[in-house]
Amino acid sequence: MDRIRIVGGNKLNGTIPISGAKNAALPLMIASLLTDETLILDNVPRLADVAQLQRILGNHGLDIMAAGKRPGDHEYQGQTLHISAANIIDTTAPYELVSKMRASFWVIAPLLARMKEAKVSLPGGCAIGTRPVDLLIMALEKLGAELQIDGGYVIAKAPGGLVGAEIDFPKVTVSGTHVALMAATLAKGTTVITNAACEPEIVDVADCLNKMGAKVSGAGTTRIVIEGVKKLHGARHTVLPDRIETGTYAMAVAMTGGDVQLAGARPELLQSALDVLTEAGATITPNNEGIRVARNGAGISPVKVTTAPFPGFPTDLQAQLMALMACAKGSSHITETIFENRFMHVQELARFGARISLDGETAIIDGIAKLKGAPVMATDLRASVSLVIAALAAEGETTVNRVYHLDRGFERLEEKLSACGATIERISG
Ligand code: EPU
Repeated sequence: MDRIRIVGGNKLNGTIPISGAKNAALPLMIASLLTDETLILDNVPRLADVAQLQRILGNHGLDIMAAGKRPGDHEYQGQTLHISAANIIDTTAPYELVSKMRASFWVIAPLLARMKEAKVSLPGGCAIGTRPVDLLIMALEKLGAELQIDGGYVIAKAPGGLVGAEIDFPKVTVSGTHVALMAATLAKGTTVITNAACEPEIVDVADCLNKMGAKVSGAGTTRIVIEGVKKLHGARHTVLPDRIETGTYAMAVAMTGGDVQLAGARPELLQSALDVLTEAGATITPNNEGIRVARNGAGISPVKVTTAPFPGFPTDLQAQLMALMACAKGSSHITETIFENRFMHVQELARFGARISLDGETAIIDGIAKLKGAPVMATDLRASVSLVIAALAAEGETTVNRVYHLDRGFERLEEKLSACGATIERISG
């Protein structure tokens, strides 16, 4: 199993290109199941989760072609995928494939909408909580589907097709909103989703669905209205930049010091995180090419942060912020409200000497002057990258084990960081 070796202490200086967003690319690829024409997606990140979803879609009978480089493409441009679901030969998503990635469960929505049936294994995914699918099932039932759970599979049928409905989520859910949105595009009549998730990735998917002929309005607000249509068609869409990758590198620069341009980043996708970084002492300058992040001289100030659905501080940046606060001048409080078990990085950050105690949903971090490198490993994607951030600023050497978590969500992490002066390398085997 690959490991990453980091020798900390270098400031980061230079340019980091931001990749396409994993959490938009995955539902966009899944949306290709809604049409028998080709969906072309540009700026798809080269990630293990994308490759896994390609396998899952391939199992349903989709043809996926990754286009080669074109003249003028810059080095880090994401791949272009041509996805054709002309013939769906299998409406089952098996355990072996779905258990590796939670988002693959979402194929249930387009399969049900277009093929009127689906059999999808209950999902796996990151070890960050129980992560049920009750709200996804509720949404599909509202749209007229009959669902039952049998042998670890959700078996869904809608023999007469889905029918528009009012779906009021009792709690904000990204997965629930994606599923309701995709399913409703081909339902008979109008669907109104209330208390919908407002995450930028929902807006990106809705934009793409509209290009495919869907009639979606209100995405990005808590009330989304979908007028069902009979058929969707092919389209071309560019995946939006990854706000979590952006925030992660911004925190890395705040931690090590230095001056880095995050090329292609869009500040409005993570304003709450940028505000927290400013409070912590970083200088954030949005410009035409992205966002410039610098910290020179000044120490890191402690902060009080609570994770919340968009536009609040994202849970997917909570671990990274905790790494940063481990070196703040004082005591920070970070409260996690989205997932109940998302503090697995606390014990690993402690290996660097970080002083963190837990009080229910809140972590109290007493900053120390310097972290010290150590062998570490993590159990989920964002926790793993928080260890990389800590290691970049720590004194001495760190080995991060279980690198496959990082490969799920960070494209060319070592390359991007070493181009800015970090001492970081992958050790294979
Ligand atoms: N929830 C339920 N029932 C459901 C669905 C969700 O109780 O049927 C709960 C969850 O357990 C959680 C809360 O609702 O406590 C929010 O879950 P949500 O559905 O919003 O999360 P998700 O769609 O499963 C996506 C991202 C996560 C990100 C969350 C929150 C993708 C592929 N995943 O997950 O990203 O943390 O939204 O923003 O888009 C990651 O990229 O590392 C990651 C975990």
